[in-house]
Amino acid sequence: MSNIGSYESKYENFDWDISKKELEYGKDGMYNLAYYCSDRICEQGHGKQTALIWEGFKGETKQYTFDQVRVFSNVFAHFLKDKGIKPGDRVCLFMDRIPELYISFLGILKTGAIVQPLFSAFGEDALFTRLDDARTKVVLTTVKHVRKIRRIREKLPELSLIIVVDAGEKKLSENEIAFSMETLPKQENFEIHKAGPEEPSVLHYTSGTTGKPKGAQHVHSSIIAQYITARWALDITPEDIYWCTADPGWVTGTSYGIIGPWSIGVTQVILDSGFSSEKWYKFIQKHKVTVWYTAPTAIRLLMKDGTDLVKQHDMSSLRYMISVGEPLNAEAVIWSKDTFGMPFYDSYWQTETGAIVITNFPGMEVKPGSMGRPFPGITATVLDLRTFQPITKTGTVGLIALKPGWPSMFRTYWNNKEMYESKFKNGWYICGDRASIDADGYYWFVGRDDDVINTGGHLVGPFEIESALLEHEAVAESAAVGKPDPVNMEVVKAFVALKPGFEPSADIELSIMNFIRKRLSPLAMPQEIEFVDSLPKTRSGKIMRRLLRAKEWGEEIGDTSTLEND
Ligand code: WT7
Repeated sequence: MSNIGSYESKYENFDWDISKKELEYGKDGMYNLAYYCSDRICEQGHGKQTALIWEGFKGETKQYTFDQVRVFSNVFAHFLKDKGIKPGDRVCLFMDRIPELYISFLGILKTGAIVQPLFSAFGEDALFTRLDDARTKVVLTTVKHVRKIRRIREKLPELSLIIVVDAGEKKLSENEIAFSMETLPKQENFEIHKAGPEEPSVLHYTSGTTGKPKGAQHVHSSIIAQYITARWALDITPEDIYWCTADPGWVTGTSYGIIGPWSIGVTQVILDSGFSSEKWYKFIQKHKVTVWYTAPTAIRLLMKDGTDLVKQHDMSSLRYMISVGEPLNAEAVIWSKDTFGMPFYDSYWQTETGAIVITNFPGMEVKPGSMGRPFPGITATVLDLRTFQPITKTGTVGLIALKPGWPSMFRTYWNNKEMYESKFKNGWYICGDRASIDADGYYWFVGRDDDVINTGGHLVGPFEIESALLEHEAVAESAAVGKPDPVNMEVVKAFVALKPGFEPSADIELSIMNFIRKRLSPLAMPQEIEFVDSLPKTRSGKIMRRLLRAKEWGEEIGDTSTLEND
């Protein structure tokens, strides 16, 4: 039996109080989310339960119980407080996926400061933009990454302190402090800042496949949504071994890589290592992972390496697999079902929504290629592209929109109220994506609003074209964009990366064209295929169609600070 039980009855009778009650949120005036991810689990008698099993890239491991997470996060909190950190100050986390990252996340929140997690692979320009925008006061980092901060420090007058969490005896520069979580005196107690439910908690800069990065500001009560979605959509129980493959530099890695799972008291496993299909399967096998949350980009890479590799490993511990971040192609759903004996379930949300808003649930019929249905407590619709009124006719494409008011919704963009306000129309929050809703209430993703192709006045979403391409045996990945055309304004052009063992040729192009012709409407048919070694992606794994499109149009490519290979 899954945690959610019957979707229909849960949706109809839902109240966020259900989540608050389970969490005991607000007891003794405590709203600080860090308390619910560590101290509360210990108070309930589960302090000895393992909270974190960490594996580094050489295969070395470390483990921490919930009680150790509580005590070590207190060590961070005391240290920061002693250094003069006050509630509301921005404290940036800039490190690889080491245990200190997860534990100090809670330590920072315990002081009332705002956590600003940034992906450790960011270069100094990307880093500068975000630290400057947030007027960040402290950065917690490691020896490996501190150099990038040193180079921009002069330009950041408000950055008063750099804490290097693994410096040991290494010599540091002025105003840098060496810190060691494990060797400092243990701190049994820390007076957790009594944040109000609306007090800022996490500041996440969006991965921004479009425009300049914006800081989505979240509040402590987001945990009400993160907890219950982790229970019902990810189906986590305290007995699971849970693996979220996302880096906490992105919202998936905090909402479902720290807050949601630890508020349930589940054991998390973390692999701090680059991607390799074999490594991933070995990791699942070794730690007997039961619930696995990952992304379509990774799933497509796994598919590329084939089914045989899966069969060489023991995957029998897995009971639930779920995906987020990009559209999950029907082909990937079918492949996973054939290969693992269960499908990848799709879930949809954004940095701005803070938690899952549209999703498939365990036990629900999965329609391959659909994102599923709104989470209980979420009022969703699609709006007409011109009038911004809800569309009542099933199957019509519109803008995905949500009724504001769910607990984990961002409260503003940092320093950019205007941009925040521009996201609302007629009382709806506009996600910036297009979809249609079928007669059963399932959502079908079409594309990001700005990725949609307008050919001869007809709108074509890249997702259907890319999904058709992916079904061809030679195609590993693809991106469909509009290129200029004198007659139709735009026509479809597809960029295709081939699987190992296939080389670009006129024959293969013809074979792909013939293959997709049977699956697509003539309008959606690419006029051209360009073979590429790989596609440009954001560091969080999203295909950057905007970049490919700009090249076709000879336009400026805009901000590329989140590009993977810059
Ligand atoms: C954008 C949000 C939410 C965590 C990771 C990304 C796209 C997300 C899906 C999905 C189709 C999806 C949308 C959305 N997206 N999930 N299941 N199907 N598209 O957070 O970086 O803020 O990106 O990712 O375009 O708006 P983000």
